[in-house]
Amino acid sequence: MRALEGKVAAITGSARGIGKAIAVLFAKEGAKVVVSDVDDEAGKRTAEEIRGIGCEAIYVHCDVSDPRDAEGLVKAALDAFGALDILVNNAGITRDALLVRMKDEDWQRVLSINLTGVFNCTRAAARAMMKRRSGCIINISSVAGIVGNVGQANYSASKAGVIGLTKSAAKELARWGIRVNAIAPGFIMTEMTAKLPEQEREKLLSTIPLGFPGEPEDVAKAALFLASDAARYITGQVIQVDGGIAM
Ligand SMILES: NC(=O)c1ccc[n+]([C@@H]2O[C@H](COP(=O)([O-])OP(=O)(O)OC[C@H]3O[C@@H](n4cnc5c(N)ncnc54)[C@H](O)[C@@H]3O)[C@@H](O)[C@H]2O)c1
Repeated sequence: MRALEGKVAAITGSARGIGKAIAVLFAKEGAKVVVSDVDDEAGKRTAEEIRGIGCEAIYVHCDVSDPRDAEGLVKAALDAFGALDILVNNAGITRDALLVRMKDEDWQRVLSINLTGVFNCTRAAARAMMKRRSGCIINISSVAGIVGNVGQANYSASKAGVIGLTKSAAKELARWGIRVNAIAPGFIMTEMTAKLPEQEREKLLSTIPLGFPGEPEDVAKAALFLASDAARYITGQVIQVDGGIAM
C-alpha cells in the first residue's frame, strides 16, 4: 500500500520548485492533491501534469498572505475531496538586501508571505482538522532561520518565526491528534537559488559538507516521511535537509 493512500493534501506555492516536487510525490503515493499558488498558469499546468500520471489533483488560486484565500484553500479541499488531512506550508519568497539598505516594503512583504502566510493557512486548516481529530501540518522553514544569513534579515526572521510557530502549534494541536513539524532546507536547486549572483552561489556551495546542492525531491522525501504514518509519534520537530550545512 502507498504511504498516503486516500489522504487529501494541500500544498501552498506548489506551481513549481519544492512545492511542486512535494505535490507530485504525494500524488504518486496515493494522495488527492490540492495544488495552489499565485501563478495560476503554472499551477494549473502542475495539476494537469499530476492528472496526466493518473493521479487526482485540482488547482486553487491562493495568495497565502490573504486570510480569505487561506480559508478558500481549505474550503476547496473539503468541497472537492471531502476532507483535508495534510497541509504543507511551502509558499515563500526572498527580497534580499543588506539590513541597513532594506526597504520597509521588502521587510513587510517577506514577513507577510513567509510567516503570516503560514499562520493564515495553519489556522484555516486546523479548524477543519480539529473536527476530525487528526491531521498533519508541515512547514517549510530554512537553515537561514536557524543560523541567519547576510543580506537575508527579513527572510531569516520569517523562517525563524516559522520554527516558533511550528512548535507552538504542535503543542496546542497535539491533543486534537494534529502533528506539526518543520523542514529546514539548505541549498536546493530551484528558481529561488538560480537567481542568486554567481559568486554568492559558489560561496554557498563551498559550505556544504556533502559537497553538492539538494534537489526539490530531497525535500519532498522528508515531507513524505513526516506526512506518513511512519512519523505518527513525531511532532514539533525541525528536520534539516541541507547536506550538513547547519549541523
Ligand atoms: N530553494 C532553496 O534553496 C530553499 C532553501 C530553504 C528554504 N526554501 C523554502 O522552500 C520553499 C519553496 O521554495 P522554492 O525554492 O521552491 O521557491 P520557488 O521560488 O521556486 O517557488 C515558490 C513558489 O511559491 C509561489 N508563491 C510566491 N508568493 C506566493 C504567495 N503569496 N502565495 C502563494 N504562493 C506564492 C511562487 O509562485 C512559486 O510557485 C520556500 O518557502 C522557500 O523559502 C527554499
